[in-house]
Amino acid sequence: EKGGYEHFMLKEIHEQAFTVRDCMRGRIYPNEGKIQLGGLKDFDEKLKTANRIIIIACGTSWHAGLVGEYLIEEYARIPVEVEYASEFRYRNPIISENDIVMAISQSGETADTLAALEIAKERGATIFGICNVAGSSITRFTDAGVYTHAGPEIGVASTKAFTAQVTVLTLIAFYIAQLKEKIKPDAMKVLLTELDSIPDLIKECLKTEEATKYIAQDIKDINNSLYLGRGIGFPIALEGALKLKEISYIHAEGYPAAEMKHGPIALIDEGFPVIVIATKSSSYEKVVSNIQEVKARKGKVIAIVTKGDVDVRKSADFVIEIPDADDTFLPLLATIPLQLLAYHVALLRGCNVDQPRNLAKSVTVE
Ligand code: F6R
Repeated sequence: EKGGYEHFMLKEIHEQAFTVRDCMRGRIYPNEGKIQLGGLKDFDEKLKTANRIIIIACGTSWHAGLVGEYLIEEYARIPVEVEYASEFRYRNPIISENDIVMAISQSGETADTLAALEIAKERGATIFGICNVAGSSITRFTDAGVYTHAGPEIGVASTKAFTAQVTVLTLIAFYIAQLKEKIKPDAMKVLLTELDSIPDLIKECLKTEEATKYIAQDIKDINNSLYLGRGIGFPIALEGALKLKEISYIHAEGYPAAEMKHGPIALIDEGFPVIVIATKSSSYEKVVSNIQEVKARKGKVIAIVTKGDVDVRKSADFVIEIPDADDTFLPLLATIPLQLLAYHVALLRGCNVDQPRNLAKSVTVE
């Protein structure tokens, strides 16, 4: 049942080229530049006229929400807020009938997320779900939704469900953009054609496993680490850090790279590991200078870079190359080596990768 893999987590990491493909099946039509989301089509008017989208979730699903914020604001031009369900529900939130509240939950059973939706519904918002488990409580409670179709996720640390959530959010961003005519048909063709190629690029990313094994040997005995990213790379840094801390019990903190100088830089001394998302993007130069700041303090830099990169290689201790793609799709690619790195570090530390201590797959307590 583990398909020849040592752990469910490793199997699920390796499945991602297929799960992302499954998630897009029947939803994107690259040749026509069209996108179709059956689950939302009765709410097209609502999506066109919504004032605001509020995304609520916990843990890894909340990180997917942060990616969604970036994509929906970028393409659909609707303001998005991303909230921890547990904070939202206890805060007397201001919600109106023109708001869409979207819950993201792999299990569809997370108690805080469900309770947050109940409040949103009471206050008149339209509520959507992005869930993996069919027929789960959240799918039954929401007005509409989009399934992630990632298949059962057994490893407690979420991997393929996350990339499927990000895929759905990408589809939703494009779908609203299509409804609101924010993306011209030709541009949509280009975007969907690239999205269609992402499963193949994920396969390329899976080839970084050897590199991550090698780096894991080097960092397995660390106690602390910092993950940095900017823009759409920031939630990826958060997710990479969460994976490491969940399964290897190493303290890991994700931070927006530019915030480093406002505090975390004080942590950096000789050998302090800093994992940086440093792929080609509009903020590339800035990230390169963040790396130099770390190196000037003798920190150890592990950088995720775009294939063929030369600048980062000059200063980083280790580089992990991923294929070039538009920033829009970076989360679907850069996440993969971070999952593999966390897995191999945890393995070397003798941790129970599939069932980390103190964690449950579905958190039904509040
Ligand atoms: C992280 C992880 C948790 C869940 C969180 C929400 O790897 O698995 O942080 O993401 O408990 O769970 P769902 O998505 O089921 O609501």
